[in-house]
Amino acid sequence: MSDLKSLIIPDKVPRHIAIIMDGNGRWAKQKGMPRVLGHRSGVKSVREVTEAAAEIGVGFLTLYAFSTENWNRPPAEVTALMSLLVETIKGEIRDLNKNGVRLAAIGDIEALPKSSYKALVEGIEQTKNNQRITLVLALNYSAKWEILRAARQLAEQAKTGQIEPSDIDENMFENALSTRGIPDPELLIRTSGETRISNFLLWQIAYAELYFTPVFWPDFGRKELFEAILSYQRRERRFGMTSEQLAR
Ligand code: FPP
Repeated sequence: MSDLKSLIIPDKVPRHIAIIMDGNGRWAKQKGMPRVLGHRSGVKSVREVTEAAAEIGVGFLTLYAFSTENWNRPPAEVTALMSLLVETIKGEIRDLNKNGVRLAAIGDIEALPKSSYKALVEGIEQTKNNQRITLVLALNYSAKWEILRAARQLAEQAKTGQIEPSDIDENMFENALSTRGIPDPELLIRTSGETRISNFLLWQIAYAELYFTPVFWPDFGRKELFEAILSYQRRERRFGMTSEQLAR
């Protein structure tokens, strides 16, 4: 079998890929294991997919690691996820630096447990000079939270006279989102067969190609990432134009 990587067109590699990592729990259940072991295996996929994305020149990889709604899970699972996060970040810093991975985060991270917040901020600080790929963790994130926060912030600025309501355009709004400075994802992947967006990057995915796969997150690796990119490259992105206009 030829390596899928050789089929990828370098000029058409998405600059930013966002992933809803889903199916850890079902993967574990299928194997008769506790859900938490599914999350642990999910970390292996995070590592493999980040490395594969960097290898082909993806600039930004955003992973939905914990949504605002995930607080509703059983407390033991929430605690386990938070410790896994701290453990993973602390344990990976050396490798992140070795592989040129810059860590970033979006979401209400200040509301995370102190130890998770601290590990995250340290991870971000210690990898800030890396330039090969930016790994953005969406943590305690929801798109509606982010959009509301931006709207409030701009309303405050208008109230104090710093801006006029008519100044608010796409650019200004984007600068008030937590993804400020990060290009919009061209490709959004969701694993595990669910075909929902679940409050993820609602503003930023306006023109993203959506890719859904039945594969559970712990089974999603390099090969599955390259298949998703190949599917993306076969599609025609028209941005509202006709095929004829694009051919010109
Ligand atoms: C979804 O599976 C997965 C999550 C809510 C958490 C994802 C977290 C990790 C992969 C580990 C930590 C990540 C980093 C970046 C250190 P699910 O539990 O919803 O699965 P289910 O739908 O089958 O129940």
